[in-house]
Amino acid sequence: MAERPEHSVDILPVGLTVMVPDGETIMFTALASGWKWPNVCGGQATCGVCLLEVQAGMENASPIGRDEAVRLDFMRKADNPALRLACQLRVSGPMRILKRGARPLEGATEQTSGGAVGEAGGFSGAR
Ligand code: FES
Repeated sequence: MAERPEHSVDILPVGLTVMVPDGETIMFTALASGWKWPNVCGGQATCGVCLLEVQAGMENASPIGRDEAVRLDFMRKADNPALRLACQLRVSGPMRILKRGARPLEGATEQTSGGAVGEAGGFSGAR
C-alpha cells in the first residue's frame, strides 16, 4: 500500500512548518505533533477559536462543509474566503497560513502521527 503524501503548511507568525498528511486537517496534525492550537470545542466546528487565515495555497484547501459554513456565518466571517476553521480545513497541497497562538509546546516531537515540524520557508505552491 502506497504511503500517503504529506504537504508542507507554513504557519505564521511562529514561522514553522507542519507536514500535514493528504486529506488531514491542520489543527489535528499540529495537535498530534505536540502543538498548542487555540480551540475550545475540540474540533467540532462549534467554537470558532481555531479560525485561521489562508495566505497562500487556497487551491489546496478542502471546500467549506456545512458545519464550517454555519460557524463562519455565525461569526460573520463567511464573506472572507481566506478565513477558515483549522479543525475543518483539509489539506491537499502546500499552504501558508496565519494563526496567532499556534506553536509547538515544549517537548513537542519532531514527528508524530504522520506530522512533522520544521522551520517555515518551504512554501512552493502558487501564490
Ligand atoms: S476547534 Fe472549535 S471550531 Fe475548530
